[in-house]
Amino acid sequence: MKKTSINLLILFAVLCIFGCNQKENQSKTYSKSMENIQVSDYGVTSKGDSIKKYTLTNKNGMKVEVINFGGIITSLTAPDKNGKYEDVVLGFTRPEDYFGGNPYYFGALIGRYGNRIANAKFTLEGKAFSIDKNDGPNSLHGGKEGFHTKFWNIEPVKDAKFPTLKLTYTSADGEEGFPGKLTTTVLYTLTDDNALEISYEAETDKPTIVNLTQHSYFNLSGNFTKEITDHELQINGDKFLPVNETLIPTGEQKVVNGTPFDFTVSKPIGKDINADDDQLKKGKGYDHNWILNGNGLRSIAKVYHPESGRVMEVLTDEPGVQFYSGNFLDGKYETKTGGKNGIRTGFCLETQHFPDSPNQPSFPSTELKPGQKYQSKTIYKFSVKK
Ligand code: BGC
Repeated sequence: MKKTSINLLILFAVLCIFGCNQKENQSKTYSKSMENIQVSDYGVTSKGDSIKKYTLTNKNGMKVEVINFGGIITSLTAPDKNGKYEDVVLGFTRPEDYFGGNPYYFGALIGRYGNRIANAKFTLEGKAFSIDKNDGPNSLHGGKEGFHTKFWNIEPVKDAKFPTLKLTYTSADGEEGFPGKLTTTVLYTLTDDNALEISYEAETDKPTIVNLTQHSYFNLSGNFTKEITDHELQINGDKFLPVNETLIPTGEQKVVNGTPFDFTVSKPIGKDINADDDQLKKGKGYDHNWILNGNGLRSIAKVYHPESGRVMEVLTDEPGVQFYSGNFLDGKYETKTGGKNGIRTGFCLETQHFPDSPNQPSFPSTELKPGQKYQSKTIYKFSVKK
């Protein structure tokens, strides 16, 4: 009898120690992804919102900084061929320049509709909608008060494998003219293979349209006054969408072969940018949507900066990418490395559905209905070529 109770006691003690260890291991894993997220004060908006900056760090020392205003990436470092990590995304030096409207959409989350909608109008299930007209006759990037100007709730994700931020924003029915209350969640994850993964989800309570993207401008030289024309770009897209004078797709799907838009084989961005070409004139350089080959999450573009050895690969499950060569950067603001943000000192590869899809029935649909879930994923992965 005595022996049995001693045995039971031992069994209980062993189970207890095992249980405690399990708990400890679990909390270590939790705190590991959390340890790599630092939070600090960033600034206060004119509305009185206190903005925080979240810094994600991976095991190699790569860092991504995100603020809860516009879900903006204010800094992202990547290694060069000597292992030196430098900031490679354009941004302002003063918080007020983000809070005051962010004229170039530096680093921002874009919604509800990335890119342009012709005449700021569309029809959905027989109903006509007018949205904010903020780009000549058109609507651009969700309107003047789009998602890039909103206060996003940010929570570090406790049980994630890598440092991850969960951003949420609820857009009221009718905001900027769009129908339906839209609840959006974006995850930013910094993996140990130097990739920033961005996952988007959205749900609505009325039929609506959605096309979310990220508007970071990259300059892999790490010097924001240098032009990006020496970066070598390859895009897995055999066709692109020609545009009219206001940068709305004409509906034509043009083969890139034999045009300055052929990036199927890697070439410097500057190689053909000044060619005598009507489309380049309309965009003042490249500002077009490429129809990406294949589907599902796949590698769609690669950028190589020979001098630094930095490489950025883009993967997405979207059908299109807007390659924008920073043609409207106008030298009005100081860059984070001194000097001014002149023309073509950054480029964007904005993964998305095609511009003006709500008015172009031949394009993949951007409609979202109640009960459906919008889901999209894009990865920017950094490496080095020696
Ligand atoms: C557009 C450009 C626009 C820029 C805003 C890009 O996505 O394609 O035309 O000027 O965003 O900074």
